[in-house]
Amino acid sequence: MSTNQRSVVRRGITSTNVGIPVVTPLSPSVVYHYKDADELESMHEGEIKGFDYARDGHPNAEILAEKISWLENASSGFMTASGISAISAVFLSVLETGDKIAAASHLYGRSLRMMKQEWPRLGFETKIFNASDPSTFDSAIVPGTKVVLAEVMSNPTLRVTHFEELVAKVKSVGALLLVDNTFTTPNGFKPLDHGADLVMNSVTKMLSGHSDLNLGYIGATDEALMERISEVIAVFGFNSSPYNCWMAERGLHTFDLRYQQAQANALQLAEFLQNKPNVSSVIYPKFESHPDFEMAQRLLKNGFGSMVSFVLDGGREQANAFLNAATNIPYCPTLGDVATTIIMPSVSSHRKFSREERIALGIEDNLIRVSVGIENFELIREDFSTALQAAL
Ligand SMILES: Cc1ncc(COP(=O)(O)O)c(C=O)c1O
Repeated sequence: MSTNQRSVVRRGITSTNVGIPVVTPLSPSVVYHYKDADELESMHEGEIKGFDYARDGHPNAEILAEKISWLENASSGFMTASGISAISAVFLSVLETGDKIAAASHLYGRSLRMMKQEWPRLGFETKIFNASDPSTFDSAIVPGTKVVLAEVMSNPTLRVTHFEELVAKVKSVGALLLVDNTFTTPNGFKPLDHGADLVMNSVTKMLSGHSDLNLGYIGATDEALMERISEVIAVFGFNSSPYNCWMAERGLHTFDLRYQQAQANALQLAEFLQNKPNVSSVIYPKFESHPDFEMAQRLLKNGFGSMVSFVLDGGREQANAFLNAATNIPYCPTLGDVATTIIMPSVSSHRKFSREERIALGIEDNLIRVSVGIENFELIREDFSTALQAAL
């Protein structure tokens, strides 16, 4: 367990006048009352600590954001309603109409859609680059670019960003680098330690870990920038729910253990899939066959994560045979759950892309993405054996 993960468990809870509760209390109140105008004013001036309206902040968001900030080495962080609203909040905080932005081509489907369709509609000009190919950076990240969005490891092809080159390029034009750390998590990589300006996580995924809430996190070391982002969260209503934050904090206590178990299972599954007759390729960054193998070794010092993708031989008939036989593995569009889950991105996250676009991104029709869970590996092995046999 890392030092900052230790602090995450059972630390920093609010005290009361009857002792200190072991579990952070759930504070569902939307409003907070004060004895008079002077007291409320002191709170607004920061002389006393407090809250007044939950859209602007509440105790459960504050403690959760603080804990995730410890993991990400951020000096300031805020919770949002979802991962995607964390991304929206950053862009809406810093952009003016006509500004230029740049985004990696291998992003989560809806993030890419936000960059390619929604922001241009509002007057932001988006350029796309390949985060694993630095030769594409110069044409997309140009003087005047304000914000650049990339992921450390991409969904679903697990391509690894050439991080040092990207940071250098973004800094050379004076832009902000926002890194989506959802796939890698702060246990796999800490973007702020490597030159990113902002880090975000979909807390919906591995950090909370149980597929029972939507939440996002944004963190940075620039206090003024974070202050601006917190205003936008409140103005646009991207705020988190106290209950979700409370549940996510409970999940976060076991994050480190879940991460280690899921990562160990993922490696075993990737090795198991490599020898199967109807699997044409296995994508896992630890393997020398991975296109970004060297970069992965340099960046991912703590292991290669809990995601494995593979291509099943045949067409839709074989894919359906596999999915139908994998009765214990939920087929669903999420990741980072305690249970192993599978999805076929060609008909889920990337189904709105043309086939040519998908294939160019490496997303073949029968690419199956596995989010490996924390089960006993023998159960996972049995389920995959049965399903692969059915697809022969
Ligand atoms: C890498 C990545 N970033 C962001 C998001 C969006 O997060 P949320 O679903 O919490 O809005 C997702 C969702 O799947 C994701 O996979």
